[in-house]
Amino acid sequence: MLVHEIEELRKIRKEWCGEKVGLVPTMGALHQGHLSLIKKAKEMCDRVVVSVFVNPIQFGPAEDYGKYPRTLEKDMELCNSAGVDLVFAPSPEVMYGKGQKLSNDTLTYVCPPFFYVNKLCGKSRVGHFDGVCTVVLKLFNIVQPDFGFFGEKDAQQAVIIKKMVKDLNVPVEIIECPIVREEGGLALSSRNKYLSEEGKKEALVLSKILNNIKACYNKGITDIDALKETAYGFLSKEHELEYLEILDRDTLDEKDKADDNSRAFIACRVEGVRLIDNICLGGK
Ligand code: PAF
Repeated sequence: MLVHEIEELRKIRKEWCGEKVGLVPTMGALHQGHLSLIKKAKEMCDRVVVSVFVNPIQFGPAEDYGKYPRTLEKDMELCNSAGVDLVFAPSPEVMYGKGQKLSNDTLTYVCPPFFYVNKLCGKSRVGHFDGVCTVVLKLFNIVQPDFGFFGEKDAQQAVIIKKMVKDLNVPVEIIECPIVREEGGLALSSRNKYLSEEGKKEALVLSKILNNIKACYNKGITDIDALKETAYGFLSKEHELEYLEILDRDTLDEKDKADDNSRAFIACRVEGVRLIDNICLGGK
């Protein structure tokens, strides 16, 4: 079922009273990564809602809001075959109000703490996580799910959303699901669509660097700088490294030494496309 309006969604949500509802927030252009979130939501919930909304306030002025892939018809087909109960695909006017200027001069924003935002993706994407938290809180308020499902690929986003939910007493449990990768190791992302075949090969550098860091950690190297330095052998002029960091996976704290709770995070441009990936150093 496809719903565009908030009032219609609220009416249906009322009929689900007493049932466990899961929300998978997306910006559409669905791929196997999203389908894995939907699968988990189906396992845990009686009803599954997928939101499809390219959120204008989480894109910077020089970012790809205009050209972000919009494939609602195909997304609907995928959701229908995955057994999704409802796809919520509002317009920006429905979400933010007709004629509403999208700036924090006149619109209420959720501002996650600077400590969590001023690192990794937040450093170059100023205001991005304000936009993400604002839309996710709005979606939680509209859908009123018991569970929200997010991918570990956007690990900083998941940490920040968990923090928001805790700090603002939002009655939603956040479930993080593992990264889904193509056979060669490239993490699935809607932005992979921007890459040529050659670019996709070059993009494997992200997972190669991360896997190598984990292998070095498993061999006993815990010095953060030494682990990070192992990346340089993989990089060439095709890759513009934006960051490579090893931080605590839950708190995003810097550490003196890597441990099983550390996560290595990378952002790198390939063919001008900004790609991110990460890996936990502990575990398999
Ligand atoms: O991860 C995403 O696709 C987006 O940031 C989200 C959570 C759907 C908010 O627009």
